[in-house]
Amino acid sequence: MKLLRNLALVAAALTFVVAQPVLADDWLTNADEDTRAERLSSYLGGFSGAMWEVGNRWERMAQAIRDDNFELAHYHWDKIGSAIRGGYMKRPARQANADALFLDGIWKNYLETLESGDGEAIRKQFGQARDACMACHVAEDVPFMNDQPMFTEQEVE
Ligand code: HEC
Repeated sequence: MKLLRNLALVAAALTFVVAQPVLADDWLTNADEDTRAERLSSYLGGFSGAMWEVGNRWERMAQAIRDDNFELAHYHWDKIGSAIRGGYMKRPARQANADALFLDGIWKNYLETLESGDGEAIRKQFGQARDACMACHVAEDVPFMNDQPMFTEQEVE
């Protein structure tokens, strides 16, 4: 009797397992076009993902300047520009302030300064670059972003 009951339980469990849909890993290739676009769009995120990269590169850039590694600093600053453009490709409402307060002015200027390898000028202009980040946070209504060590404590002198 006990054996029969156990067999019945195993059979029930197997039926349950077999009845489950196959959980495929190919989340893009296995989806129709609309679902694929929706999944990509939500997975790639909006502006904050770009800013996360920008913040990380910003800290590495400051460290590179402290290390007198101006080529690395230039590399990160260049990528910061690309990350912000990538961010507003996804969230166009951010473009006006990003261009006006950052990309069209200080970003271009500082790129040249970093390329020059002139350590004194690079250290002197660092504060202007930081101010531009912070000004955009105020303009975009996220002033609390400025109250964190990457802005309040980071020096390159
Ligand atoms: C468009 C103007 C703009 C500029 C220029 C800008 N930011 Fe931002 N930043 C934002 C906005 C808006 C958010 C909030 C993102 C959101 O809510 O989707 C943000 C968020 C952040 C965050 C938090 C990201 C997270 O989710 O972890 C960091 C860090 C950051 N910015 C660093 C910087 C640094 C460093 C610079 C300058 C090199 C900079 N930002 C320049 C608008 C800007």
